Amino acid sequence: EAFLASDPLALLQVTDRFIYLQEGDVVRLARGGDIAVHDTAGNVQSRPVQTFEHGDGAATKDGYRHFMLKEIHEQPQVIAATLEGRLTERHALVRSFGREAEALFAQARQIHIVACGTSYHAGLVARYWLEKYAGLPTQVEVASEYRYRQVVVPEGTLFVTLSQSGETADTLAALRFARERGYVGSLAICNVPGSSLVRESDLTLLTQAGPEIGVASTKAFTTQLVALMLLTLSLGRMRGMNGARETQIVQALRTLPRAMSQVLALDGDIEALSMAFAEKHHALFLGRGAHYPIALEGALKLKEISYIHAEAYPAGELKHGPLALVDSEMPVISVAPNDELLEKLKSNLQEVRARGGELFVFADERV
Ligand code: M6R
Repeated sequence: EAFLASDPLALLQVTDRFIYLQEGDVVRLARGGDIAVHDTAGNVQSRPVQTFEHGDGAATKDGYRHFMLKEIHEQPQVIAATLEGRLTERHALVRSFGREAEALFAQARQIHIVACGTSYHAGLVARYWLEKYAGLPTQVEVASEYRYRQVVVPEGTLFVTLSQSGETADTLAALRFARERGYVGSLAICNVPGSSLVRESDLTLLTQAGPEIGVASTKAFTTQLVALMLLTLSLGRMRGMNGARETQIVQALRTLPRAMSQVLALDGDIEALSMAFAEKHHALFLGRGAHYPIALEGALKLKEISYIHAEAYPAGELKHGPLALVDSEMPVISVAPNDELLEKLKSNLQEVRARGGELFVFADERV
């Protein structure tokens, strides 16, 4: 037999032997496993058969009910793998992004981040970090919009794409479009070695999330955030970031896998909370600062997985319209870390309570 798929993961249950097609190839599969590949000029091509190495257990659920749950629980280990060899005691290593990274980063005066879906949300979080710690103006855009706009590219712009698969058509098209626009260089933060995005970018940082089989991104998102923090630290250091703050973030990254395991231990409590949503038709997610994109990602996950309509707002926008929707039928979920915006957020949450909204707040233990 022979099969055709857009991703090896779709076929791991039937084979580990793959032929990768090149841009423009046409393939004919015949009964009996007869395969003919033609290139864009119509010439017959012999493309090598490669064995897909996926490590132990990538294609099995390992006792979990489904792949998404398994992948959520893999986060501590894949985050540790994404950090491995990329930190010293006090710094992030710029060379993790490639040999040319230092030279290209030194020219960066602003950043354009382009991605889709969950990867776009990771980019939105990074904007807060890059502006705060590296002082670099950062624009984050959905690839399907970016590629059709007359984008103005100021001198010294570093172009960054984010993608789990490295094959998302709009993100790839945006990269190709950007190549003609005079960027100082392109960086791909991607989970799949050898993917088109990786092959076509000047610099690469591979996340080490391992194959993500669940359609809804989970571990791919959190490893992207880790990679983006490494980028922030690398650029920040070159641009005079406060050394004590840098060390503090490096230490926090090192303890992140353990902190994540502690959160995952709350699984049972969170499952119990989910019962409150089962019969609802809508939900509202709120966040402030870098947690606004986290709220966006929460709403996307709820929609994708439960088919419950969910929206996310920056908490400060509540009074400018969406508050009208809040009543006892509207669960409101908020991420409330103990940071400089907490008091502001609390006052937004009081508005929700005043309207009889049901609040679910994910807070720091110390709040
Ligand atoms: O592979 P990519 O990260 O480029 O995919 C982009 C989106 O399709 C993807 O992030 C999608 O939004 C998530 N899988 C949804 O959970």
